Amino acid sequence: MTMQVVPVDLGARSYEVRIGRGLIDAAGVAIAPLLRRPRVAIVTDATVAGLHLARLEAALAAAGIASAALVLPAGEGTKGWPAFTQTVEWLLERRVERRDVVVAFGGGVIGDLVGFAAAVLRRGVRFVQVPTTLLAQVDSSVGGKTGINTAQGKNLVGAFHQPSLVLADIDVLETLPARDFVAGYGEVVKYGLLGDAGFFDWLEAAGPTLARDPEARQQAVARSVAMKAGIVSRDETEEGERALLNLGHTFCHALEKATGYGDRLLHGEGVAVGCALAFELSMRLGLCAQEDPSRVRAHLRAMGMKTALSDIAGDLPGAEALLGLMGQDKKVVDGRLRFILARGIGEAFVAEDVPGDAVLRLLQDALAER
Ligand code: NAD
Ligand code: GLY
Repeated sequence: MTMQVVPVDLGARSYEVRIGRGLIDAAGVAIAPLLRRPRVAIVTDATVAGLHLARLEAALAAAGIASAALVLPAGEGTKGWPAFTQTVEWLLERRVERRDVVVAFGGGVIGDLVGFAAAVLRRGVRFVQVPTTLLAQVDSSVGGKTGINTAQGKNLVGAFHQPSLVLADIDVLETLPARDFVAGYGEVVKYGLLGDAGFFDWLEAAGPTLARDPEARQQAVARSVAMKAGIVSRDETEEGERALLNLGHTFCHALEKATGYGDRLLHGEGVAVGCALAFELSMRLGLCAQEDPSRVRAHLRAMGMKTALSDIAGDLPGAEALLGLMGQDKKVVDGRLRFILARGIGEAFVAEDVPGDAVLRLLQDALAER
């Protein structure tokens, strides 16, 4: 199967997302044309380093590119001020210059953190994303949202900083634990749900095969990336249409905050629960057909995903407290709750003034199922 190339058209900041097999082993040849001198700094996490860093380093060396790597601890806890400071200082110690390139090699945690470090280092250096999780390949590595979490919440500090190239090697996903693969699928299915009913139809059949079928996996990644690239090209800084990519995320961010951003609920799992709740809310508000939320839940369940609050282990706060956590979400405009709702599968839209009592009742009912 040949590599697919999805362009992200942003004028002078345009770049390619390359999706295919064996791209890590060919990374040196792909990155070399971007370099003014033959050296790069790689930032990765310990799990990815143990599994794949030697191959990336060998591929760079084969193209005559020297590299040094900073290996950070794996996990969401790394996406904060301490690892950010460590990364920026390490890049400065390595004497990374304005014209150099930094390589973010890992999942969404590494991509977001390293992209933000690249955005501020010497007022901005270029970076290449080599995403190694399904979530990062279909979502976080594309579109230039970078940042870190703080004590006040997720992704509250960051910058728009587009990568210069994205290399999505679908073979690297073979080593991803099943739970992380399925969590990443939450973002794949999101694209079908928000804007492409045909893709959702295809996923209902092909979804269960993605983990073992590279051809189907490449199709799913390429189609997801194409949808994101189109949206980002039209609305880079989320003045309008890009907000659709947040389908399920208002619920997700509240649940992630309530569960401590950890193992109880991975981001992609929260997105799946959030998408199911967004469709349920849309149905209750009379916006979409009764069958739509059931169809969404049925597919997510067939994929082995969490779909309900009862699937989240441990205690959750009450409905009002959860609503309060949504109120702290940065997508709130002038104190009003803004949700991405849907008129059907593939027909999401931004609802500016969603009645709080409908959301509260939905959460009360969802909590009562626990
Ligand atoms: P992650 O980066 O923590 O990766 C998940 C786990 O998989 C980690 O333990 C990692 O070490 C491991 N891993 C990575 N690649 C592997 C591989 N090939 N084989 C085996 N293990 C591997 O998490 P994630 O799910 O990739 O990303 C979640 C983050 O992405 C969140 O912080 C979220 O906010 C962010 N995000 C950002 C955007 C954006 O637009 N910037 C979009 C969606 C999500
Ligand atoms: N993941 C949401 C966005 O990139 O806008």
